[in-house]
Amino acid sequence: MFAVHLMAFYFTKLKEDQIKKVDRFLYHMRLSDETLLDIMARFQAEMQKGLGKDTNPTASVKMLPTFVRAIPDGSENGEFLSLDLGGSKFRVLKVQVSEEGKRNVQMESQFYPTPNEIIRGNGTQLFEYVADCLADFMKTKGLKQKKFPLGLTFSFPCRQTKLEEGILLSWTKKFKARGVQNTDVVRSLANAMKKHKDIDVDILALVNDTVGTMMTCAYDDPYCEVGVIIGTGTNACYMEDMSNIDLVEGDEGRMCINTEWGAFGDDGALEDIRTEFDRELDLGSLNPGKQLFEKMISGLYLGELVRLILLKMAKAGLLFGGEKSSALHIKGKIETRHVAAMEKYKEGLANTREILTDLGLEPSEADCIAVQHVCTIVSFRSANLCAAALAAILTRLRENKKLARLRTTVGMDGTLYKIHPQYPKRLHKVVRKLVPNCDVRFLLSESGSTKGAAMVTAVASRVQAQRKQIDKVLALFQLTREQLEGVQDKMRVELDYGLKRDTHPLATVKMLPTYVRGMPDGTEKGKFLALDLGGTNFRVLLVKIRSGWRSVRIYNKIFAIPLEIMQGTGEELFDHIVQCIADFLDYMGLKGAQLPLGFTFSFPCRQASIDKGTLIEWTKGFKATDCEGEDVVDMLREAIKRRNEFDLDIVAVVNDTVGTMMTCGYEDPNCEVGLIAGTGSNMCYMEEMRNIELVEGDEGKMCINTEWGGFGDNGCIDDIRTQYDKEVDEGSLNPGKQRYEKMTSGMYLGEIVRQILIDLTKQGLLFRGQISERLRTRGIFETKFLSQIESDRLALLQVRRILQQLGLDSTCEDSIVVKEVCGAVSRRAAQLYGAGLAAIVEKRREDQGLEHLKITVGVDGTLYKLHPHFSRILQETVKELAPQCDVTFMLSEDGSGKGAALITAVAKRLQQARKEN
Ligand code: BG6
Ligand code: BG6
Ligand code: GLC
Ligand code: GLC
Repeated sequence: MFAVHLMAFYFTKLKEDQIKKVDRFLYHMRLSDETLLDIMARFQAEMQKGLGKDTNPTASVKMLPTFVRAIPDGSENGEFLSLDLGGSKFRVLKVQVSEEGKRNVQMESQFYPTPNEIIRGNGTQLFEYVADCLADFMKTKGLKQKKFPLGLTFSFPCRQTKLEEGILLSWTKKFKARGVQNTDVVRSLANAMKKHKDIDVDILALVNDTVGTMMTCAYDDPYCEVGVIIGTGTNACYMEDMSNIDLVEGDEGRMCINTEWGAFGDDGALEDIRTEFDRELDLGSLNPGKQLFEKMISGLYLGELVRLILLKMAKAGLLFGGEKSSALHIKGKIETRHVAAMEKYKEGLANTREILTDLGLEPSEADCIAVQHVCTIVSFRSANLCAAALAAILTRLRENKKLARLRTTVGMDGTLYKIHPQYPKRLHKVVRKLVPNCDVRFLLSESGSTKGAAMVTAVASRVQAQRKQIDKVLALFQLTREQLEGVQDKMRVELDYGLKRDTHPLATVKMLPTYVRGMPDGTEKGKFLALDLGGTNFRVLLVKIRSGWRSVRIYNKIFAIPLEIMQGTGEELFDHIVQCIADFLDYMGLKGAQLPLGFTFSFPCRQASIDKGTLIEWTKGFKATDCEGEDVVDMLREAIKRRNEFDLDIVAVVNDTVGTMMTCGYEDPNCEVGLIAGTGSNMCYMEEMRNIELVEGDEGKMCINTEWGGFGDNGCIDDIRTQYDKEVDEGSLNPGKQRYEKMTSGMYLGEIVRQILIDLTKQGLLFRGQISERLRTRGIFETKFLSQIESDRLALLQVRRILQQLGLDSTCEDSIVVKEVCGAVSRRAAQLYGAGLAAIVEKRREDQGLEHLKITVGVDGTLYKLHPHFSRILQETVKELAPQCDVTFMLSEDGSGKGAALITAVAKRLQQARKEN
């Protein structure tokens, strides 16, 4: 009994002495809580530095955006291939993610060796080797018939600008293949795979192992938002708020950041805690000066640190009676698995004796105890350091979420963490001590990081498939040069049809003579009233023209025309107009004045003289009854009579295109075309009288209002009309009519966009597949919204805000798609305008027998004025399709009211002259 006690006492004393000795020797490796809190604070600062745009270039902790934006939601499915390269083992896998929404993943895998001559040889050979292994795997598993999406777990620091890219920043751990740094490893691997003609894979994602681990664990636990590897190397990733990631556009949601914390301290930030052993180890490594934090922590280095310490202690006579074996001098002789074995709870001492003996040493009982304690100190320091950095991440997460307490899960992997008997316990304990306000669950990734990589790939492959569907829809709006030339040619044919007596009655482009025969000559003068009806706004104007150029003063007032009046009876409409005139005269103090009036009436009218216009049919948003087939000038006169308050001399009725041409022609006599790209779409131009068969006389020119909006009403451009155009047509006030207008003008572009969005939503490609009430509402996308959405200066978030204003609750991805849809629709519109205009200017050039035509086009309309790209694309298209015409575009600043007044002035002068005669 006594002997047993004595033995126990002796042993305890021996142990105490040895521990004290080692503690004294390695006091620098034992980190106090205070130091850990300090390291934690330093790492917090490093993260901030890495995330900042300006500070990132010099930051040692790179905080790399991974383009992984969400954790798996369980809807992932399909079959994927996966490569796992960079940890202690290289694996190729096939992952099958459940189809039926059950969270069920099946994996088949095969390990392949990674010989040093491959991982430290030539880069091309490395990728060829990886491709060979993949081909071998597919062959043995019988996977060669099918195309597979592939996710690559590549456990090295890579800069990404998208998921399927990874520019290697530097090799770490055991790898050092030449010619790979600063190149895209996805592309290199894809190239290497081209040699295998019999396999077909599509690399959709590159993920770091930390990211794969986080995703693997998140598949089972949706709280998981951090991934940590403590294996050959060490690293962590976590979900960061997009608004904190300067390097990636967008502020919405979160993105996973690969911290690459292994490089913490590479700028000297940890010099105070690094020991002589750390420095010696670093000098002997493949990447001296790099990954200094990792070298104090991870599996590749722990054994070596122990070896360096034992050697030094032996040299100092503190171990093995001062004896050193030759094996103890050899780099790498002690590995992490040895450290783990020596620290085992029960067998630890025996293991230690065995390991030391294997190293050719003759350890005493005391030596074994001391060596075991060395291992403990080294691995404990490792766990402490990891805990400090992890605590910094957890704190950041908690602060991002503005929570007093954070409940979260950390996905864990890596051999050191998995095989070391004490490591997990110690790490967890220290983390909990450092961040008492976080409830952390540590979840071991049982199936490695590839399951997670497959999840990322699954999402990417879904996105890719969706992208294809979206592209297919957008492609319908992309017109080839030949198609545009086709439009131009057909337009040209229709123009001629409309001018010819025989074909005119059936022509869809009506080519209406306007009885406007010349441009203003500058002698016009007087005070005129003008009405401007049919665009976005209804205006009443007073135009004062003084003789002498450019001396025009305009006073005007905008009046609303309520929908029920636009679509009520003709009498109501014209009574309302007269009411507005009365208000205006009142407002201007002109009550009772009898002024000549020019009426801009932006609808197709058949004219027999300048002051007569029979409405052929309503277009755009008007549908008042009893007007079609009536002379609108008469209707206005009757309404004035009905009111019986004032009299007006209605001298001219003009289309807005004509008014616009005149407005611009007043300043540039070369302006012989008027173009409207607004609510509606139309064009007028000066035609030779001899070509106008409907009007007597061959002398001089007359303006023709083409009413080109009706182009295509005979089906001649049905080949380029899409299902969406047809839907918009069917839902309009005038189905089957104005087909060209419905593909080009402001009133309809938004509707086309809306129809596309509805279809994409039905296909589950937008708005989470939910068609909201708002999206069902006709007319929500006014031209001004399209113009805003397409503005280049707008960040995604702003696009999203506009959509939200419209009542469309969109994600960032949705916003991108909506913007693309708007772009495709407006681009086609501008090109179609270009093709139409090219037909006219070419006709004018040929009619005049000119090699080159120089001509000015007066333009107006909200689409042209507000849209950020419309005018440019229109101009480019004209240039391309009519290269022999030099077309100048002149924006009508004053609207068409001024032109209408000028026409009135000319007509008045002629009227006067006739009377005098
Ligand atoms: C494995 C993962 O489980 O752990 C790898 O699948 C990862 O992606 C590895 O790199 C890390 O641990 P170690 O110890 O193999 O480097
Ligand atoms: C205005 C003209 O500036 O533009 C109107 O004065 C014309 O006559 C209008 O109808 C066309 O553009 P929108 O976009 O208002 O239809
Ligand atoms: C190294 C790599 C890093 C990886 C880690 C764990 O630190 O640089 O990308 O995540 O090892 O494998
Ligand atoms: C519609 C009208 C037309 C007008 C154009 C632009 O196409 O029919 O007359 O010029 O819109 O406002």
